[in-house]
Amino acid sequence: MIYGIGTDICDVRRIQASLARHGERFAKKILSDAELATWRARSQRWPERGVRYLATRFSAKEAFSKAIGLGLRLPMSWRLCEVGKLPSGQPYIVLHGELKTWFEAKGLSAHISVSDETDYAASFCVVEVAEKSGS
Ligand SMILES: CC(C)(COP(=O)(O)OP(=O)(O)OC[C@H]1O[C@@H](n2cnc3c(N)ncnc32)[C@H](O)[C@@H]1OP(=O)(O)O)[C@@H](O)C(=O)NCCC(=O)NCCS
Repeated sequence: MIYGIGTDICDVRRIQASLARHGERFAKKILSDAELATWRARSQRWPERGVRYLATRFSAKEAFSKAIGLGLRLPMSWRLCEVGKLPSGQPYIVLHGELKTWFEAKGLSAHISVSDETDYAASFCVVEVAEKSGS
């Protein structure tokens, strides 16, 4: 059964401006440790790809925060929500810490889809809740 849906559109130029102003500190606020390693590798080779990576992660996390109905309120927080990637290229949500505990206690599962064009990154998230047996 659907628990919630969330969508987000992110202006890549705003992410670029925040990175220019705050440097890696901004990426560290948004990305998990694993994402930060990917972001660093991409940014070193091609800075523009680093910005796009950060923008799609930013929008995916906002979409997820809406699908769970919390927005960016605890236990939702940027670094506890990670976007992983399957060998096929499909993104998936990986949670950590308190957010993972909260999410699993509610019997939730998430599906995420991301997209980007020159100036925008967009994401859509569906969160399902396991149906209780007998209901
Ligand atoms: C959800 C949130 C991450 C989106 O912020 P944003 O990027 O600035 O705005 P967006 O345009 O992407 O999205 C805004 C829409 O998100 C939706 N939204 C807001 N809170 C939401 C929630 N808890 N769950 C699901 N959707 C939510 C609303 O539809 C809102 O549009 P509306 O204001 O026209 O009704 C942000 O509103 C948030 O973190 N809220 C929680 C914290 C908060 O409310 N702080 C304010 C002081 S109490």
